[in-house]
Amino acid sequence: MFLCSAVLGALAMASLSMAQCSRDKLLLASDTYIAAQTSGKQDDLSKLFVASGFKYRQNNKSPDIKTGILSKALKIDHNRTTFDLTQCVTFTELISTAGPYVIGTQIRHTADGESVSLVDTIVATTGDWQFNAATTLKYISTEDWGTLKDSDRSSRDVLQAAADAYLDMWSDSKAIDKVPWGTPCTRTEGSMHITPSCKAGAPNGGGSKNTDRRYVIDETVGSCDVLVAFGGSMADSHEFRLVSGKLVLVHTITV
Ligand SMILES: *[C@@H]1O[C@H](CO)[C@@H](O)[C@H](O)[C@H]1NC(C)=O
Repeated sequence: MFLCSAVLGALAMASLSMAQCSRDKLLLASDTYIAAQTSGKQDDLSKLFVASGFKYRQNNKSPDIKTGILSKALKIDHNRTTFDLTQCVTFTELISTAGPYVIGTQIRHTADGESVSLVDTIVATTGDWQFNAATTLKYISTEDWGTLKDSDRSSRDVLQAAADAYLDMWSDSKAIDKVPWGTPCTRTEGSMHITPSCKAGAPNGGGSKNTDRRYVIDETVGSCDVLVAFGGSMADSHEFRLVSGKLVLVHTITV
């Protein structure tokens, strides 16, 4: 009897945790975010914020959103957003060559999907690691991050495991063999472009851990973005695309 109710309870929990939030609501918020960055005005975006406890992070710190990057009007040359309907969170990649800025932003919603609880952004500019917005734009504008057919999709667990294995390579010498390397695979790291092997020059342990990982997983396009404290300290975004279970694209933004 106990076993039976435990199983039923587990099933109920599983179906709860699989509840999906509304893609339309997530899209409205990410569109409003891009409009705010374009205009430098936060009024419409701030209307979506949860009434109490809203948080803003920029480069892994917590400045006032009013003095952050969103207070600057930026001409946006590139935008791409992924949708995690399980966690109610989006990831948006922006490039402004005029800024110049390359920005990766996760917008996290409350569990009911009704309001925005966190804007968590990585903002790279001139002087940051390998930074050149125009070069990054040139490389990534040729890439395909489109919707995958069902047979090319991976589960959330597989996407996250690939991202974690990759991010573990700095601190764990065994992690390199756990990354599902694809060929060809292209890494765009600021203005650096490494292809057709993403494994070339990959680290092999001995370094500091990449900590404070925040994930956005979109199975429909095979993307897992992770905001991290790179080496335990630097503000960084790593985004991965898997096609048929293999890693084919990597984008990094490092401050
Ligand atoms: C975002 O990108 C899409 C193309 O992917 C484009 O149609 C749209 O105008 C862009 N939005 C902004 C604000 O640049």
